[in-house]
Amino acid sequence: MSVQKLAERRADLCHPLIAVPSHDELVEQLFVRDLKQFVNGPLEGVQAELADEEGRSLDKAGSNNGVADLRARMSQHQSFRTWLALKRESQRQLWATVGDSVERQAPQLEALAEIAAPRGSVRTSESFVPPDYILRGDIHLMPGGNAHDDGSLMQGAVMDRGGAVFMLGRNGGMLNDLRGQTAMAHVLTRRPDFTPERILDMGCGIGTSTVPSAQCFPDAEVHGIDVGASILRYAHARAEHLGAPVHFSQQSAERTDFSDASFDLVFSCVLFHETSQAAMFNILAESRRLLRPGGLAVHLEVPLLHDNSDTWVELNGELEAQYNNEPNWRGALTADYMKMMVAAGFGDVMTGYQPTSPAARQGPFRFGAESEGVFRSWFVASGTA
Ligand SMILES: C[S@@+](CC[C@H](N)C(=O)[O-])C[C@H]1O[C@@H](n2cnc3c(N)ncnc32)[C@H](O)[C@@H]1O
Repeated sequence: MSVQKLAERRADLCHPLIAVPSHDELVEQLFVRDLKQFVNGPLEGVQAELADEEGRSLDKAGSNNGVADLRARMSQHQSFRTWLALKRESQRQLWATVGDSVERQAPQLEALAEIAAPRGSVRTSESFVPPDYILRGDIHLMPGGNAHDDGSLMQGAVMDRGGAVFMLGRNGGMLNDLRGQTAMAHVLTRRPDFTPERILDMGCGIGTSTVPSAQCFPDAEVHGIDVGASILRYAHARAEHLGAPVHFSQQSAERTDFSDASFDLVFSCVLFHETSQAAMFNILAESRRLLRPGGLAVHLEVPLLHDNSDTWVELNGELEAQYNNEPNWRGALTADYMKMMVAAGFGDVMTGYQPTSPAARQGPFRFGAESEGVFRSWFVASGTA
């Protein structure tokens, strides 16, 4: 099969709005994906081994005071510095290659986004001011950042195609929807007979996790909020192409314009690590305010909590925060979610790891204290109003 045919087939497997690369663009994107796989796989393994050795040497010298000492030691190694440079450069290249490809297709994508009879909607506001932590740097190094808006939906198109390459296909292939599926698996393992009438996805991005919630509960009225107008316009068109009626609006999850007690299910997927220490609590309090009595909140995060990880994971997290612009990585991975959820007014709080397998929906309750590893389970904190 030719590379071009392969690209077309990927679009068939996904949705028509995703930017389809030309032959050369796909070659470039596959190169970047493979480079990232190499940098974050075998090369990282070598650095982790080196970190083990350095950790033992620090222990022996009686001067191992944690991740800062380890980082200082590692920084003396040329191979560590080169690996770090490769990590950042491969991420930069990802957006460069995806950005060019998306820009070339702008007219076609804008035309495809004209939906004749939409079942959902999108509401943006020119006066909306994104929170500081969004404006401080381009999160994930995506040029312009999440709130970039030129009146089009192109930032969303870049985020969609880039996200699929970035996640290396491990978050549900080109649909990138495994996190949303996992959040819904958690809802159904907690409450097999739950039939929410109104659902809110906070920090929905381009709706990759919102659409699975609409598919899981087809009779519900589903809303998604985010800080970026361009990504929301794209999210709307994407959801329509996927047959999911969703109402998107540009709002901060810290304080929305929805009424008190107006949702049965409020959820978020990997939102907290892109916010701030104060915002995490505000978002939990807001999700509590929005729930009807008996409603359920489900907040999913990357499964690399420091309590459950070694020093290498912690050090790698520091690097991710600094070199990939992840403002609250440390805050989100060291937070006491049980305490915060209880303080926000939730009852029946559960924290732990939810397996990604769709089988988790049918099988016995598999939510538990053990992480099955990145992409095999996600950290979830949930509670009831
Ligand atoms: C890592 S993305 C995840 C997107 C989506 N939930 C998913 O699972 O693919 C985090 C999203 O949260 C959004 N975000 C960050 N802070 C926010 C806030 N205060 N209110 C609403 N959205 C926010 C970002 O713009 C970004 O789209």
